[in-house]
Amino acid sequence: MKNIFLFGYTIILFFCLFSCSPDTQVKEENSNYYTEQYRPQVHFSPQAKWMNDPNGLVYHEGEYHLFYQYYPDSTVWGPMHWGHAISIDLVHWEHLPIALYPDSLGYIFSGSAVVDIDNTAGFAKDGETAMVAMFTHHDIEGEQAGTLDFQTQSIAYSTDRGRTWTKYEGNPVIPNPGIKDFRDPKVIWDNERSQWVMVLAAYDKAMFYTSSNLKEWTYASSFGIEGDQRLWECPDLFPMKVEGSDESKWVLITSIQKEGPNGGTATSYFVGDFDGQNFISDPEKQEWLDYGKDNYAFVTWSGIPDSLNRKIGIGWMSNWQYAQVVPSKKWRGAMTVPRELKLIQDGNLYRLTNVPVQEFKSLERSSIEVFNLPEIAMNTYELPKGNGLYRFKLRCDEPMSTMRIRLRNSVGEWLEFGYFANAEYYFIDRRNAGKDDFQADFRGYHTGYALYPKDDILMDIIIDHSSIELFADNGQCAMTDIFFLTEPFDRVELVAACADLEFEVIDLDGIW
Ligand code: FRU
Repeated sequence: MKNIFLFGYTIILFFCLFSCSPDTQVKEENSNYYTEQYRPQVHFSPQAKWMNDPNGLVYHEGEYHLFYQYYPDSTVWGPMHWGHAISIDLVHWEHLPIALYPDSLGYIFSGSAVVDIDNTAGFAKDGETAMVAMFTHHDIEGEQAGTLDFQTQSIAYSTDRGRTWTKYEGNPVIPNPGIKDFRDPKVIWDNERSQWVMVLAAYDKAMFYTSSNLKEWTYASSFGIEGDQRLWECPDLFPMKVEGSDESKWVLITSIQKEGPNGGTATSYFVGDFDGQNFISDPEKQEWLDYGKDNYAFVTWSGIPDSLNRKIGIGWMSNWQYAQVVPSKKWRGAMTVPRELKLIQDGNLYRLTNVPVQEFKSLERSSIEVFNLPEIAMNTYELPKGNGLYRFKLRCDEPMSTMRIRLRNSVGEWLEFGYFANAEYYFIDRRNAGKDDFQADFRGYHTGYALYPKDDILMDIIIDHSSIELFADNGQCAMTDIFFLTEPFDRVELVAACADLEFEVIDLDGIW
C-alpha cells in the first residue's frame, strides 16, 4: 500500500517538474499552502518574504499582470526585484518566476508596463508584440556614497507575454538631473496626441516626460503643491470620462510619504486637465483615494481595451510606519482587492470613487443572509460558520445617530466600524482588534469622509483574515485597515437607528 502511495506521489512530482507552473508545484508539495496565521485569503500576497508596491500593472492577451516590489531573501525590505503574478479574473492569482533582478545599475524600484502595440521601440520581431516595462534603477552604492544622482529610469521588454524579460542595453534611458528622489515612472499612451507620456515622482512634485519610442524622453513639465514639501511616490496619470456625461478629465494620483489623513503613508489624487505637456489641476485641494492607513502606492492597469471603459487599480495594503514589523512570519505584505475607479461630478467638483471590481462577486457563496430590520436595531448575529471571510452590505436611510458594526471573536478582541452621524464621518476602530504592540503608530481609530454626505448611508465591507476594506456611498469614501487577530471573528453586533435599515451578511470563498 505504502509503495503504491509513494509511486503515485513520484508520478505527480515528476509530472509537475516538467509541466506544472512553479505555483502548482509548491501547492502539491505543501498541504498547508496559504493557511498560516494572518494569511490573507481573498487578497494577493506573495508565497514568502517581503513585498511592497504593485508595479507594471498591464493587461495583455487576457491576462492581468501584477508585478510587485519584492525581496526574496527576507521578510524586511532589501535589494528590490520585481515579483510577478497573473490573473484572468482579477480574483485568483497564479505566481510566476521573478521578472526582474537587481543588476550593475542598481535595485529594481517601482515602475509600470505597457503593451507597445505599434512596436514604437522596435523590440518586437515580425509577428510579435512587445511588452515594455519602465522602472527606476536605484544605485545603492551611489546612495551610500551620499551622491544625489543614484536614481535613474530604465526599460526592459518581453516578447513572450511577460514570461521572460530583457533589459535594454541603452539603460538608463533617463539619467538623473540631480534630484535625490527621482523615481517610479508610470508610462501611458496619450491617444489624443499619439505620444507616450511618463510621469514620475521627483521629491515633492510630479515630473512629466514625453516620447515617441519609449527609449528617448523629453522633459515636459512638473506639478506640485506650493509650499508643501512632503515626499511624493508612485504617481499615475490617466484620462477618465465623467459619469453620465461626455466630458473627460485627467486624474493625477500620487502617494504621499507623510501625514496621510490618519497618519503615515497614503494615496491621494488631483482632478484636472492635461494638454500633452502640462497637468493643470482644478482649484480644489488634493483628495484622498483611501482614508484608511493601509492603501499605499495605488496605481492602475494599462492595456485594458478602451471599449470596456474600465479603470482598475490596486494598492499595497500597508503603511511604511510599520510595514516591516507587522507580525506575519513567512511573508510580509498584501495587496488591496482590485478596485474599479469612476469619476463623478457634483457642481464644479469632481470625485474619484473606488469599489471592489465586479469580478469579486464570484467569491460570494450562496448562503446569503438578508436581514430587514426595525428602524432602531441593537442585535447580535452569529456569523455563518465558514472560513472567516465576509462581505457585509448595509443601507441606512436617514441615520439618526451613530451606526456601529462590531465584529467579535471568542477571546474578547473586536473591530468596530460605522458612521458617526453628528460629524458625518465613517470610521474604523482597530484599537482592540488583536496584536498591535509591534509599533506605536499602529493602534488607532481612523476616520474618513465622503465629499457629498447624503441622507442615506451605503456601506460595502470586505473582511479578510487580517484586513477590512470599507467602501461607503458607492466608493466616495474608501478606508482600508489591516489587523492581526488571535482568533477569527464569530459574531457581529449592529447598533443603528435609521428610517429604514437593511443588513446583509455574505460568506466568501477564499482564492488560494
Ligand atoms: C514606495 C517606494 C517607491 C520605491 C519603492 C522601493 O513604497 O518607496 O517610491 O520605488 O517603494 O521599494
